[in-house]
Amino acid sequence: MQAENYCAVEIEKNLSRPRKGKITVLETVDSTNTYLKSLCRDGLAKRGDCIIADSQTGGRGRRGKSFMSKGKVGIYMSVLLSTGSAAPEQISEITAWGAVAVHRAINRICNADCKIKWVNDLVCGNLKICGILTEMTKAGPVMGIGINVNGRQGDFPEELSGIATTLEEVCKKSFDRCEIIAAVLEELDILCENFPNGKDEYLSEYTENCAVIGKDIMIEREDEIKRGRAVGIDRNFGLRVIFSDGTKETVTGGDVSVKGFYKK
Ligand code: BTN
Repeated sequence: MQAENYCAVEIEKNLSRPRKGKITVLETVDSTNTYLKSLCRDGLAKRGDCIIADSQTGGRGRRGKSFMSKGKVGIYMSVLLSTGSAAPEQISEITAWGAVAVHRAINRICNADCKIKWVNDLVCGNLKICGILTEMTKAGPVMGIGINVNGRQGDFPEELSGIATTLEEVCKKSFDRCEIIAAVLEELDILCENFPNGKDEYLSEYTENCAVIGKDIMIEREDEIKRGRAVGIDRNFGLRVIFSDGTKETVTGGDVSVKGFYKK
């Protein structure tokens, strides 16, 4: 197992390009997204600022789900992106750009061959290794990233068995979390430099690496679950689906979730 505790200086040592923004590492917090959003609200956060916690007591995912955030093993980080004032309806698109950025970082450092599960997860095989939650503030988008780095699949609680795994389990070796955090920060800085003009590049990388295209899935929305096949990604990173009754739809982020991909 690599170094268990880390600080901002160790992360900065791993950066291969200069960056703006302060890195703060906390031992524990309820949620790095909630914490960074409160700094934004109080006018205390600058673009590029990053909050990292060794553990979270109330890690949050999309659609009111919780995100397991155990100490010493995972990465729980939130960054105030400098994409300029993005409209609230662009959250889904920014999350998709974030998925491309984190995908690049993880594959560069861990060579894990992970893929993107529309819209905000990264998977190895059909098990989740990362989730992304973007929330809009007046200061800009706060992107929260949770990565299951070290530890074993068997360490997850029963409700996550068949759903989540770790990079250590996939790659059969443990990783220095500072290296992965630095790579994610670099890719998020590149994302911000490219947004919005580099859309074609991010869209084609998203599409090429999207794990659900060509798969039979279920779309869950409010009380409704519909079966269909994912057939592509549209210009706004929406998922193009042909339902079993023959109807076609492009589903967008918001309250929609893809089911039937994980084993459970
Ligand atoms: C999801 O799986 O739907 C998204 C999970 C996002 C988890 C990260 S961990 C860091 C940040 N803080 C949170 O409370 N959530 C995000």
